[in-house]
Amino acid sequence: MRKYEDLTHLSENREKQRAYYIPENEGGYTLLNGTWKFRYYDCDYKEELEEKSWEEIQVPSCWQLQGYGHPNYANVCYPYPVDPPYVPDENPMGVYERTFKVADTGRKHYLVFEGVSSCLELYVNQRYVGYSQGSHLQAEFDISAFVSEGENTVTAKVRKWCSGSYLEDQDFLRFNGIFRDVYLLSRPQGHIRDIHIETEKNQILVKFDRVAGGGNGGCAEVSLYDGDLLLGSEKAEDTVVFTVTDPKLWNAEKPYLYTLRFEDLGEVITQKTGFVSYTIGEDLAFYVNGTMVKLKGVNHHDTNPHTGWCMTEEDILTDLLQMKKLNINTIRTSHYPPTPRFLNLCDELGFYVMLENDSEMHGFVNRCPGGNGYDVVNNPEWICNQKEWERAFTERMERSYNRDKNHTCIFSWSLGNESGFGTNHRRMIEYLRKTDKKRLIHCEDATRISEEQNIPEFADQPDLFSRMYPEVEEIRAHAEDETFRHPYFMCEYSHAMGNGPGDVCDYWEVIYQYPKLIGGCIWEWADHTVIVDGVPRYGGDFEGEMTHDGNFCCDGLVFADRSFKAGSYEAKRAYQYLSCHLEGSRLIVKNLYDFTNLNEFTFRYVVENDGAQICEQTLTLELEPKEEMELEVCIPKQTKLGAYVTCYLYDGTGYETAMVQLELPSKKVTEENKPVSAAVSENTHRVILTDETTSYAISRHSGMLESVRREGKELLAAPCQLSVWRAPTDNDRNIKSKWGWYNIWEGENFNRLFTKVYEVKTEGQQVKVKGSLAGVSRMPFAQFEITYSLWEKGLKTEIHAQVADRCIWLPRFGMEYFLPYEAEQFEYFGMGELENYCDMSRSARMGRFRSSADEQYVNYIMPQEHGNHTKTKWLEIQDSLRFAGDFEFHVSHYSAEMLTSAMHIDELKKSDKTHVRIDYKVSGIGSASCGPELLEKYRLSEKEIQYAFYCL
Ligand code: GAL
Ligand code: MG
Repeated sequence: MRKYEDLTHLSENREKQRAYYIPENEGGYTLLNGTWKFRYYDCDYKEELEEKSWEEIQVPSCWQLQGYGHPNYANVCYPYPVDPPYVPDENPMGVYERTFKVADTGRKHYLVFEGVSSCLELYVNQRYVGYSQGSHLQAEFDISAFVSEGENTVTAKVRKWCSGSYLEDQDFLRFNGIFRDVYLLSRPQGHIRDIHIETEKNQILVKFDRVAGGGNGGCAEVSLYDGDLLLGSEKAEDTVVFTVTDPKLWNAEKPYLYTLRFEDLGEVITQKTGFVSYTIGEDLAFYVNGTMVKLKGVNHHDTNPHTGWCMTEEDILTDLLQMKKLNINTIRTSHYPPTPRFLNLCDELGFYVMLENDSEMHGFVNRCPGGNGYDVVNNPEWICNQKEWERAFTERMERSYNRDKNHTCIFSWSLGNESGFGTNHRRMIEYLRKTDKKRLIHCEDATRISEEQNIPEFADQPDLFSRMYPEVEEIRAHAEDETFRHPYFMCEYSHAMGNGPGDVCDYWEVIYQYPKLIGGCIWEWADHTVIVDGVPRYGGDFEGEMTHDGNFCCDGLVFADRSFKAGSYEAKRAYQYLSCHLEGSRLIVKNLYDFTNLNEFTFRYVVENDGAQICEQTLTLELEPKEEMELEVCIPKQTKLGAYVTCYLYDGTGYETAMVQLELPSKKVTEENKPVSAAVSENTHRVILTDETTSYAISRHSGMLESVRREGKELLAAPCQLSVWRAPTDNDRNIKSKWGWYNIWEGENFNRLFTKVYEVKTEGQQVKVKGSLAGVSRMPFAQFEITYSLWEKGLKTEIHAQVADRCIWLPRFGMEYFLPYEAEQFEYFGMGELENYCDMSRSARMGRFRSSADEQYVNYIMPQEHGNHTKTKWLEIQDSLRFAGDFEFHVSHYSAEMLTSAMHIDELKKSDKTHVRIDYKVSGIGSASCGPELLEKYRLSEKEIQYAFYCL
């Protein structure tokens, strides 16, 4: 057994974990980031066998992104055999070295590593100092006895795997190296070691201890500040209690912090703290300072498309500010503690944080042929039940807790993710229970396994009942079940992969109805990818991946560059702090903030009729949290296309934080439109209907419109087609194909479609077509009839289809037009301007918008369906056709076939045409890539399809 596989050797000479701080006095802190010397061995024992000269590497970095080894994306499966605690003998190793200066050997000197994957063997001046594992945890070493005045050398040997790797089977790109900051702390003898801060009512309780060997009489000066204002100062040995009159409370909306300053032996340490309490009420709701709060969350991984796990302060700030823009108030640090500076920023900017321990053992589920999955209770094969692993589990929790215990933002500790639940987890809970009386405990596995296996004692241990990816109806059922006595939290929901998620708003409609439903965290914040030559790459794209999970890492609510997609805005709507509805002509406005009066925002509403603005009001609303008020709006008497009131909320910078659009109850009048007399001419190939300006030719063979001529110009680039396919979204991955299944889209071969025309006949001025649609090798799944006739608004196409009972729900159904490439600019009245689908349209609004085929393209990492617009009344393509009716549309320079076959954006080739879909309906988006199946109400599952539109 190698040392790094030895479970009794989890660390050597590592300091006991203390609260995170960096002394601020001059000379106390030397950052050692930058260029280090580096030697890489594809196998650690070759260090002795191979002569290698030094190369250079940047610290922090992931060595796979610096030219050493290759990235590997693995979700569930361990990328090596599951033979704990052993890891492969061919264990790559990076040796890092650099020099640093020590000015005064009379002081204590520490090296701090904030993140090293997977383990670290430390040498100073070629003498062994110690060892640590736990990639996302801090490792601090006292090197005082190893340094001399002047220049010293630090050597860090970092191995790819160690026994700890079994506890780090998170779903991410597997990276290694020194990926977070490294620094030297030079401190006085007998300095302060740990600091523990708690607030209780109007008091701040401070406790601290020291390292041995000071002999200073042991008093530190501890001062409390409110901003620059000194509130109190005391000399203390190890405890101070400050009483604050009328303290300002901390919450995520108004994150008010006080500053504690420790002056001691020439050292200055500051810690921020806030007054906050996190409790579960009798109604099982979640309360912050006694106010009910819903957790509007997202899961956050450290990920950067160029630097992997390395996140600069700027990267972190970008993430947090983008989250604020989406009205997110909660972060689960999936699935490990982030760099401590992340939490400083959460304290300052205001987020409720579930701090997750660095622990996941998902690969145990798949470890043997046949597997025994999650049957983990008393299963001796899971390391969470093995005594020799106990310390490996508990020390991680203790280190997470101790590093981050002073953060006001943390409302809950999470034991980890997908690790089963066993005796070792119970030990972690015991530790937390006794150490932290204030925060809640979370362990999804404990609650899920207890429910599935009906073991109530497990459920009692964590404070939150947690599930991932439940169906909307499942959370409602829990909420309504009075015997269910737990706050219900979704640690993961609405899998945001690719185009999506489409179901966030559905969850929130239910969450708002029941106190017991305390919220959840969307999976997950940003796409994980490695950008190579401008192209985002994922699992399967890298050399030497023994097992990989394809593009399942590209499942962010925001793109890898943190820009927003329609799904991001959909989450923003679900989470927004404004709700509006109509009661007659009264607009009821409700403030959904928990701690903020709406008077801090500008409220504006606009009434539009048929796309034209009727009135507009900008107001400051004096509205306390959770209060409502009424406004009178003018309602147009009549409307043709629809009258709407749209309400907006802008923050002080003018950023729109909320938008709600409501349809007004104006009387619908139909637009003038009469049949016109058409000249009908026929030959063996075509029936041609002609009015004053335009002639429309319908093929007698295909039954489809194949030519539109106006003023001597042909407007179509190819004949029209009925079709049902859409390039599957990531969320369609399971309905699209599953090997050996028929009841799926590829089972019907919807993507290899034949249109059979049984009959084309002319009846007076109408052309009637009968036919069927069938995938290759399949019986027809639909029979259809099309009736063409000429009206003032152009050629009317009435489509009636009967879908076979046995047929699965369709991706979409509609008519495709192929226009010349140049016919690409367009204007429409419908849902825009973001792409939208029947279940993902709260972020869009009815209105009149302009766009172009190119602007409609959305750069999803795996190319897929995008750019749809629902509820459209008209669409006018510049210098081309005008469509009117009630339909969904899509205008693109890419064919569905192209989007289907391309797996990466560089494989996409533009079509030489503009593709226009005039659809009866497109199925919703959902989040079934990992979440529940698309809700039935959003599927195109009608057996009888009937719609009509005009084309001029
Ligand atoms: C969950 C898991 C996450 C991630 C997600 C799929 O089961 O906790 O880490 O793998 O599924 O993207
Ligand atoms: Mg997992």
